[in-house]
Amino acid sequence: MRIDVLTLFPKMFEGFLGESIMGKAIQNGLVEVNLINFRDFSSNKHKKVDDSPYGGGAGMVLSCQPVYDALISIENYQEATKIMMTPQGVTLKQPIVYDLSEESHLIILCGHYEGYDERIRDFFDVEISIGDYVLTGGEVAAMALIDAVTRVVPNVIGKDESHLMDSFNNDLLEHPHYTRPYEFMGKKVPKVLLEGNHKLIEEWRLNESIKRTKERRIDLFNKQKEVTEDD
Ligand code: 6GU
Repeated sequence: MRIDVLTLFPKMFEGFLGESIMGKAIQNGLVEVNLINFRDFSSNKHKKVDDSPYGGGAGMVLSCQPVYDALISIENYQEATKIMMTPQGVTLKQPIVYDLSEESHLIILCGHYEGYDERIRDFFDVEISIGDYVLTGGEVAAMALIDAVTRVVPNVIGKDESHLMDSFNNDLLEHPHYTRPYEFMGKKVPKVLLEGNHKLIEEWRLNESIKRTKERRIDLFNKQKEVTEDD
């Protein structure tokens, strides 16, 4: 998969793209991330990318020209899935992550300032938010999106594809996990996990998942109940 990111702050991505699973996915050629500073495309002699809003008011608005020229400079941009990061977009959920992981080319625009010139929206296919809070810009949101998509690209996580068991794939939160030592600060590991009865362990884990989902995410729990009852 190829991902082109249109951003005014490419350096924000450096650590993120170099470390951990993201870093390995890039090294192994499973994803390719290309950072494009659209300030470089500004036709203004001071490389301005924003201007004051028509009608007046506070803040600055991102101009069409630098974004558009940067976008059309990308090879085969017409065929790519073009995403705008904005708090006004659809909230990112795991099904969208899976859909995007099947695309071969994503272009992601990170906004800044008060907002985008409305006409920029026409050049993009989808607007995505990562939740109901406001960030200073789209970069951190774009990194969340790229991270979530990359980890479900085949062969990124490993041969047992452990993400297939994740929270949200079956609308249940994950069960608790334990590792050595058996006892820490007086707290012991549940006995069933030590006894090697795999059927009992699976039952315990499912039970804990259900309990935890009901306690913490009654919305997910009720959705799951509907599906189960329909079945
Ligand atoms: Cl995509 N951008 C900004 N600026 N804030 C956000 C967001 C995006 N998603 C949630 N908050």
